[in-house]
Amino acid sequence: MNKKYRRVIIAGNWKMNMVPSQVHGFVEDLRAAMPERSNGCSVVLCVPATHLGALSREKQRRIGIGAQNISQFDKGAHTGEVSADMIADLGAKYCIVGHSERRADNGDTDELVNAKLRILLDHGITPILCVGESLDQRDRGLTMEHIRYQIKAALYALTAEQVKRVVIAYEPIWAIGTGRTATDEQAQEVCLAIREQLRAEYGALISRKVCILYGGSMNAGNCAGLLAQPDIDGGLIGGASLKVEDFAAIIREGSRA
Ligand code: PGA
Repeated sequence: MNKKYRRVIIAGNWKMNMVPSQVHGFVEDLRAAMPERSNGCSVVLCVPATHLGALSREKQRRIGIGAQNISQFDKGAHTGEVSADMIADLGAKYCIVGHSERRADNGDTDELVNAKLRILLDHGITPILCVGESLDQRDRGLTMEHIRYQIKAALYALTAEQVKRVVIAYEPIWAIGTGRTATDEQAQEVCLAIREQLRAEYGALISRKVCILYGGSMNAGNCAGLLAQPDIDGGLIGGASLKVEDFAAIIREGSRA
């Protein structure tokens, strides 16, 4: 599974699930079920901001701490918002940005995604940038055009060195939470197109280094085929990351040397 130039990342996206008091038990069980050797596979849990404290109190090094969103503001009079500083202080090393659910529910525009991504990089937090097409866009043959636009807008004005630190997750909207996964070929085709876009804009060295994940109904049963694709460097996993056994099975697949 190890990709020559890149590590594998298996990231859970808990979305708005679980409560903080469940974090300890989950992490203990997950640790027990995880393979001894990571073989270059990084495991991350992206939890609600309220759960970050509990996750950071787990004194272990094998599960990276991730958040799901930050404010576009640094600090101050923004009631209800959580800043990059705050999640960094709780140990967050990763943060999802541009998830389709936030784009739909909270009006996160491409400009906002770009602003949040830059703030994350300024705070040394690895952004997990989500892009993906709707079913309508796929049916109308607009997938690549849409993804290209989302990537270009999200990475606007970033230096090549900054782009190298971004993780990109290809998440077709029609596959999220639907049980309808993209085929291995569909997922690979888009992830390869993303890498080619990065190569055209930032050069071969950068494009070889950027981790590109697939997300959308990835589970224990379908992860092997997806993770075996040459341009898929891991997964962003929603539903299956809430169940220790399922998530551990995906981690095992990602850790296979
Ligand atoms: P899913 O969610 O695995 O439940 O489809 C993935 C995601 O939205 O990140």
